[in-house]
Amino acid sequence: MPEAIAGQLNAAERRLLTEAILHTSPKPRVAMEVGTWLGGGSTLHILRALEQNGEGHLWGIEADRSIYERMLANLRTAAPEACQRFTPLFGFSQAVIPQWLREQGSEVSVDFAFLDGGNRPLEQIDEFRLLAPRIPVGGQLMAHDAKLRKGKWLVPYLTRLDNWQTQLHDVSTEGLFYARKTAAAPSAASLRAARASLWRLRASPVEIAAAVLPSRVCGFFLRLLPSRLAWRLSDGRK
Ligand SMILES: C[S@@+](CC[C@H](N)C(=O)[O-])C[C@H]1O[C@@H](n2cnc3c(N)ncnc32)[C@H](O)[C@@H]1O
Repeated sequence: MPEAIAGQLNAAERRLLTEAILHTSPKPRVAMEVGTWLGGGSTLHILRALEQNGEGHLWGIEADRSIYERMLANLRTAAPEACQRFTPLFGFSQAVIPQWLREQGSEVSVDFAFLDGGNRPLEQIDEFRLLAPRIPVGGQLMAHDAKLRKGKWLVPYLTRLDNWQTQLHDVSTEGLFYARKTAAAPSAASLRAARASLWRLRASPVEIAAAVLPSRVCGFFLRLLPSRLAWRLSDGRK
């Protein structure tokens, strides 16, 4: 019996991730993940699903050096069979994705993407904008923490784009967002609506303060607020 590796995502989320990869046609050949953490959550479950499909490769990005090393060691010892389908990428998604896209060449398609990196809401937007042009019609994107700060901008933005079919799986405190591309490009009206919604979210006083103030100053103000309000304004984790 293989050793269990530490990982996030609850059982329902792991199942939804696995099913998205198993029950789609054509089978994903290229998968990209942001935020592997220790490997036993999304990474292992994506890899096992690809292995079950008998095709596909996962590129997994992790920004924290010590977590990256532990994730590699975990996967090598506890799931060596999964490693042949895995290429780890060290660094921040904002830098790693553009470099990886350049290296893969203009023809590469990303059939499946999973976003679960940093907590600032702009990060999932940036990652989506980098990857979306390379996701083919029928390709899928999932994102974790859809109900928390991490997904606070991507969910309303992507929901407004009419070339994606979306669903929020309310199966955890964090929430798992699912999107499937249905057409190459959005209509001009839906793109305008998505951009306007993003602009409104970015222009809120709380977001402007978070962008310009040092984090210790934000922390100081959050500590002055009632805990429920502080929780809503910060990363949304209890
Ligand atoms: C919530 S954890 C990911 C959990 C993991 N998906 C799982 O299922 O177990 C977020 C991870 O993303 C990493 N991270 C944060 N910002 C990142 C970024 N911009 N690019 C890549 N990794 C990032 C963190 O170091 C952390 O390990």
